[in-house]
Amino acid sequence: MVVSLKGLFKKEKQEHKILRQVQRTGDKLQPEYHRATEECPYPERWSMYDSMTAELEVLEFLRAVVTTIKPELVLETGTFSGISTLWIAEGLKANGRGKVITCESDPTVFLSAQGRIASSGLSAWIDCRRQSSLEVAVDGRIDLLFSDSDMGIREQEVRRFLPQMSPYGIILMHDASSHLKQVRQAALRLEAEGLISVLLLATPRGLAVAQKRQGRH
Ligand SMILES: C[S@@+](CC[C@H](N)C(=O)[O-])C[C@H]1O[C@@H](n2cnc3c(N)ncnc32)[C@H](O)[C@@H]1O
Repeated sequence: MVVSLKGLFKKEKQEHKILRQVQRTGDKLQPEYHRATEECPYPERWSMYDSMTAELEVLEFLRAVVTTIKPELVLETGTFSGISTLWIAEGLKANGRGKVITCESDPTVFLSAQGRIASSGLSAWIDCRRQSSLEVAVDGRIDLLFSDSDMGIREQEVRRFLPQMSPYGIILMHDASSHLKQVRQAALRLEAEGLISVLLLATPRGLAVAQKRQGRH
């Protein structure tokens, strides 16, 4: 058997490491530990389950947006362990209508999310796809897009799904804080091109709340 040195020393993906830890300890809330920024100087006032899952307050916000705008179709990119999907689904359940399509490209992560979703009692509201956000086919008008996959492709995601976005819908780009830069700059670039209007919410990891400009009356 030939074992390559590269294979031996392959770094474990952060997603897998965190999932293993969650399997050991269960979901545990802790103070947010992303670093302070000018716009969010006290990140420890927020809570998180882990550094992949959105801040607890952002999860609460997600559910509130769902109950506020009552979307028929929600698209989430980046399922990870399925926690944000379940908060969205809670909102849909409260509304009594709608569905969330969530996509996860990593097969191991997808399996784990599938397990959590299957045992949640909320699977009727969720369509879980093992696919990249840049390939997943979504039919119909999207009322809420939660872009939370790989930071490097969030801009591509928004550009890809923009034609399908309802002009009255909401686009949420997570990780838009000034220290993570990439997503913030992407959101501001899309705004500078006149494609979306953006509000930057000062959470520890940052949340860009946006709306498509075309079609607004
Ligand atoms: C920040 S985590 C998502 C956290 C989750 N939304 C939550 O708050 O509970 C990002 C996830 O996106 C996945 N991912 C990365 N690139 C992707 C892509 N192109 N399409 C779908 N998922 C992707 C990663 O495997 C990872 O599980």
